[in-house]
Amino acid sequence: MHIFKTIQPLKKFLTKAVARNKTVGLVPTMGTLHEGHLALVNKSLEDNDISVCSIYVNPTQFNNPQDLEKYPRNLASDLAMLEKTQCQVVFCPSDEEMYPEGKENSLTINMGYLNTVLEGKYRPGHFSGVGVVLSKLFHIVNPDRVYFGQKDLQQVAVVQNLIHNLFFDLQLIRVPTVRNESGLALSSRNNRLSESDKITATALYRALMMIKEELQKKPAQVVAAQQKGLRFLENEGNIKVEYLEIIDTEKFGIVSDTRNHQEIAICIAAYVGEVRLIDNVLL
Ligand code: PAJ
Repeated sequence: MHIFKTIQPLKKFLTKAVARNKTVGLVPTMGTLHEGHLALVNKSLEDNDISVCSIYVNPTQFNNPQDLEKYPRNLASDLAMLEKTQCQVVFCPSDEEMYPEGKENSLTINMGYLNTVLEGKYRPGHFSGVGVVLSKLFHIVNPDRVYFGQKDLQQVAVVQNLIHNLFFDLQLIRVPTVRNESGLALSSRNNRLSESDKITATALYRALMMIKEELQKKPAQVVAAQQKGLRFLENEGNIKVEYLEIIDTEKFGIVSDTRNHQEIAICIAAYVGEVRLIDNVLL
């Protein structure tokens, strides 16, 4: 496994590989890897000759400085996990390498409508930081394919927009959410949950599945299904729902009737204790 901390040697390595007609897949991550991240890496390994996994806790996408400070970092165990997958390349740059202009002088990107709903609304500036760091990574790696998890569904829509509007010549592959045996979506943030909160957090998935079942029976009764899910979560204690919305995955518009849309998702963000979790299921 080749480990690069700086841009130029990585670019040199990849230019040589591309000259030999190798295809390149990129899996951007913020580390503290788990089976969810590894599902993306494994898909990239299947599809491409060379897979690059980037590990970088991107400061510009954290709207809350404490969240950035508390974000877990475990490079040594990340590298050990990646080694086992046969991933060929890891890119783990410093802040100085990624933001030589200074984090506070970074460009910003206005994601338009996507900033006004769900994650965009509750985490101001978040998608700007995501867009900036991914634009940098796409230029550095120049991949044929990039891999993102359905777990962060609105991020997938943001990246599709970025690719489309900035003419990036690459294909986005969305990979299904990996869950534990109780249904809890794997997340680096789960490490911050107490053992009892880990059990409480499984209620999020149960609420999503309950709403899904309701909507399958009554596709036009969106508000009733949403209310049923919220009532269920109210009784769970230690869960504070930030939003629970039913949207179409293409535009991320909030829908009042689930019919006549290509793909619908039920999306939730909630605090379990101090930890903010997000999840979604497709209809
Ligand atoms: P991070 O939260 O580390 O996630 C990296 C990728 O792993 C994302 O595409 C995310 O959707 C995916 N992922 C996380 N948990 C998953 C799960 N349980 N199942 C499937 N995929 C999962 O998302 C980011 O980092 C950052 O915003 C980033 C894109 C790296 C930009 O900084």
